[in-house]
Amino acid sequence: MSAPTLWCVVPAAGRGARVGGDCPKQYLPLAGRPLIAHTLERLAAHPRIGGLLVTLAVADAHWSGIGTLNGKPVLTAIGGAERSDSVLAGIDALPASVGAGDFVLVHDAARPCVRLADIGKLIELAGAADGGLLGAPLRDTLKRANAAGRSELTEPRDLRWRAFTPQMFRRAQLAAALREAARRGVNVSDEAMAMELAGFAPLLVEGAEDNIKVTTAADFALAEFLLSRTA
Ligand code: CTP
Ligand code: MG
Repeated sequence: MSAPTLWCVVPAAGRGARVGGDCPKQYLPLAGRPLIAHTLERLAAHPRIGGLLVTLAVADAHWSGIGTLNGKPVLTAIGGAERSDSVLAGIDALPASVGAGDFVLVHDAARPCVRLADIGKLIELAGAADGGLLGAPLRDTLKRANAAGRSELTEPRDLRWRAFTPQMFRRAQLAAALREAARRGVNVSDEAMAMELAGFAPLLVEGAEDNIKVTTAADFALAEFLLSRTA
């Protein structure tokens, strides 16, 4: 019997303010096609991913309207003001066939270079550990700056990780954690943070550092280069 497939929620309702283009960054061209097309194709290419739920901004005029990719359903929902609102809207819009205890992946539209092998590694390891996320241990020496931009002290680097996506948690637990964070007025920057606040300890799964989040205009050239040599 083949392993069950999972749904992946893809938040794509941001404005891309730091890129500053004339349309949201997920629709700017990367190697000749919209950035988000690369991300969605990579996700749909993974044998363990069975469907994509993309959250879009209200009145998004750029969405392609695509309904299937690699034979897998692509659904959409309207996102919210913060990334966490968009993720929660996506989870709420998942089909009823996704059970409360089923794992769901969340992956930023802005991370087109994620490797299929790392998605598989996350599903395997986080699935056996009640949820987790891709990330990488910090490599550089970490400084604490003061208001004048001078280095005040050197932070310990051990046990410090950078958090990437995909992140993978059980549907109902993640929805409850995101709702509780919102109720408490905590702006969570990723799913794992909401889960931590709810008392969970998500598994950190080491992934390739070239899973960059396209954030500035300069990142497009880097992502183009990385896309051509990662799979
Ligand atoms: N996102 C979202 N809903 C929001 C904000 C962000 O779905 N209200 C999505 C973005 O579209 C992106 C991902 O979350 O795919 C990661 O967010 P980020 O890189 O910060 O993208 P933006 O918020 O669009 O960029 P910026 O912060 O520069 O405006
Ligand atoms: Mg943002």
